[in-house]
Amino acid sequence: MNLTIESGIELNDGRFIPRLAFGTFDLADGDEATAAVTCAIEAGYRHIDCARFYGNEKGVGAALAASGVPRDELFIASKVWNDRQIDGTVRESVEESLRDLQLDHLDLLLIHWPVAGKFAGTWRIFEQLREEGLVRSIGVSNFRVTHLRELMAGGNVAPSLDQMEHHPYLQDAGTLAFCRENDIVYEAWSPLGRGGCLDDPVIGEIARAHGASPAQIIIAWHVQHGVIPLPRSKNPERIRANARMLVEPLTEAEMASINALDKGKPVIEGIDPANFAPYLNSLSSHF
Ligand code: A2P
Repeated sequence: MNLTIESGIELNDGRFIPRLAFGTFDLADGDEATAAVTCAIEAGYRHIDCARFYGNEKGVGAALAASGVPRDELFIASKVWNDRQIDGTVRESVEESLRDLQLDHLDLLLIHWPVAGKFAGTWRIFEQLREEGLVRSIGVSNFRVTHLRELMAGGNVAPSLDQMEHHPYLQDAGTLAFCRENDIVYEAWSPLGRGGCLDDPVIGEIARAHGASPAQIIIAWHVQHGVIPLPRSKNPERIRANARMLVEPLTEAEMASINALDKGKPVIEGIDPANFAPYLNSLSSHF
């Protein structure tokens, strides 16, 4: 698979999104973020998944600016954290992201978590920012079916994408099916289960059969399902390896055996977007 901006999925607003993203959570701002994103761009990633909450958009922005890759070949996403939804500074949060990322627009802006009583108002601002051209596409993260239904009932623009925790050990079949039915692209955070799925014997056996690493097998499983994975790594070798897509696709039987690994096991216990979001600020060390 050719990892360029052309290798993508069409969003419901007609725009294209590259089918593999590089995750930037947990990179320290400054040199660490700059080095990892530079390495990712050199490895072929064009889709960089950022968030105001990650606190490292300056470091990411330095890598984007120095990359020499034309802006229209990059796909840069960011998110608005809960506190900015609560205190009504959504627009300011986006302006800060743009400043630090050294960009004049984002390709994708996401509501980071569905803060009850707030996300409908946040969405109205997102629609406005899209009209103004500061962001091209708008979507959500950690929205389950009930949140999506509420958002879609009140909004003018349907969300283009939902970014959920999704990996072999946690597969939210209901939300995935709803997104497919409603033309919402599904994107996977912690696509490797924070590394926790890499030692699974079933995945190990498939990896040996393909002469690939377990991470490459899990990434292929996501991509073959039409899900966009955003694997993270600080390690240059692993950043490059994760960008190398399988030449031979997984067979139906291999896909089915990975599907069967679902344990409903999140990487952080106790997260329920339905009840949890307002408290996330105080629990931010978990992320
Ligand atoms: P590291 O940064 O040392 O490479 P997820 O994307 O599911 O959140 O998983 C991220 C975790 O998986 C990180 O701890 C990362 O560690 C590790 N990781 C990423 N890619 C690989 C890989 N190819 N092999 C082993 N571990 C990996």
